[in-house]
Amino acid sequence: TRTIAVSGSASGIGRALAGLLRDQGDKVIGIDLAGAEVEADLSTPEGRSRAVGEVLELSGGTLDGAVACAGVSGLTTLTVTVNFFGAVELLEGLRPALARAERPRAAVVGSISGTQPVDDDVVRACLEGDEPTALKAAELSLEKGKGRKLYPSGKSAVAQWLRKAAVGPDWAGEGIALNLIAPGVVRTPMSEPLFADEKMFKVMNEAVPMPLNGYADAEVIAETLRWLISPANSHMAGQVIYVDGGAEATLRGPEV
Ligand code: NAI
Repeated sequence: TRTIAVSGSASGIGRALAGLLRDQGDKVIGIDLAGAEVEADLSTPEGRSRAVGEVLELSGGTLDGAVACAGVSGLTTLTVTVNFFGAVELLEGLRPALARAERPRAAVVGSISGTQPVDDDVVRACLEGDEPTALKAAELSLEKGKGRKLYPSGKSAVAQWLRKAAVGPDWAGEGIALNLIAPGVVRTPMSEPLFADEKMFKVMNEAVPMPLNGYADAEVIAETLRWLISPANSHMAGQVIYVDGGAEATLRGPEV
């Protein structure tokens, strides 16, 4: 049996992934605010270290996989504290346990939004690992009415962290495959308000055009994550994989 830690396991993509993994016989240690094996708040350093400690206890100190799905959207600094620091510190905290496994794999859920305009101060502070400064910059961004840049900032920062960390000595060097899935629009409780509001719906369609099969269900993203953390994925590292119905290619064009 493989043991996999999944944050955000109580809803949406994380919940769908936990279901797929349990169905194939894996032991899943879910992490969420409530309704999970480990109940912890990933928006604070204390919550993150408690989450790591409890996962290590439940896993016996060895983990075959870890996936950071937990996330928040909207005009809030949580898009930085949860989506960046909550993901990165959780994965870094679980890394020693992953390194003990035979074929360890890890993944993060980013977003197509990581390609949108960002607040440079927020992204810089994230990449420097300076949470108080990132939080201050995020609050300033909200005060200036530029809060819409915060979600893209957290998602861009986590993708940039991944590109570097995944191929370094701590991850690839320890035999741990680490990659990121960037979804387009996925039908989950998070995106529900976008579908409910006519104006938001229009903005979303323009921002994220999905020529292939339209909006995705959570299971679609979960299936890709399942493969990424499977033993079959022996050689993919540091990749940002867009599972977005063609949105990224549509928006960015043919240059790679
Ligand atoms: P969701 O809202 O259905 O699930 C997110 C889960 O994260 C919830 O169970 C929530 O309780 C948990 N969470 C939030 N804050 C937390 C905290 N402080 N500590 C612990 N757990 C916390 O959302 P969904 O759609 O499943 O999102 C999963 C990931 O996918 C997120 O990172 C999101 O940014 C990303 N994503 C979602 C898209 C969509 O259209 N739904 C598109 C692109 C990316």
